[in-house]
Amino acid sequence: MQDLDFLTQHDSATAILASPPPHPQSIVPTEKLRLCFATNNLNKIKEVSRTLPHCFELLSLTAIGCFVEPPENGVTLHENSLCKAKFIWDNYQVDCIADDTGLEVEALNGAPGVYSARYAGESRRDEANIKLLLQNLEGVTNRTAHFRTVITVILAGNVYQFEGSIRGQIALANAGHNGFGYDPIFIPEGHNRTFAQMNLEEKNTMSHRAKAVREMATFLGIITPVQC
Ligand code: IMP
Repeated sequence: MQDLDFLTQHDSATAILASPPPHPQSIVPTEKLRLCFATNNLNKIKEVSRTLPHCFELLSLTAIGCFVEPPENGVTLHENSLCKAKFIWDNYQVDCIADDTGLEVEALNGAPGVYSARYAGESRRDEANIKLLLQNLEGVTNRTAHFRTVITVILAGNVYQFEGSIRGQIALANAGHNGFGYDPIFIPEGHNRTFAQMNLEEKNTMSHRAKAVREMATFLGIITPVQC
């Protein structure tokens, strides 16, 4: 596995090539680019499919005959994202994407970060994670945080990674019911509402994941014969 830890991190989307672009002739011309999304999180699938141009078609795990959760046993977002995508490629030989996200809170030295899903334990419950985070920030004035997403694409066996992030503040209490995960307590910079108080279209104009997805779509539009 290639070590991708040298990457710099900033609040934008960046594309990282972990292997060279495929030879153009190795990809069959197509009007649609079909990619399996290595997740069972329906919210993520909805967010990503609404961000992608129509020439991309996302396949669910069940559509390719995968009925398990792809493993994630890395210690960085890049490793976890790669791990999930590689699981699909190695076992099903299907072009695929996988993402991994972390919420990095400045006052907690970047925690929960890569452990965001399991912050309050292996049950991975959103409410428990939020409760613990708010508890750990009680009385803390610096509430600056960053959401960071890394998307891995495996196309014809070649690996590409894309990163997107957004800076914001951790709210004092939950607000809103849309979205998922930490959305009820994340207020993106320049706004006074949490992600959970925004509809999907608004979140997609600025979110960490949407930035990474747009970067990926632009790149794939250039290196593949897909026609949008
Ligand atoms: P993962 O990428 O599925 O491993 O997500 C890690 C943790 O971050 C989980 O607790 C998710 O619920 C949470 N998470 C991922 N993406 C978002 C998001 O867009 N908004 C809020 N929470 C998120």
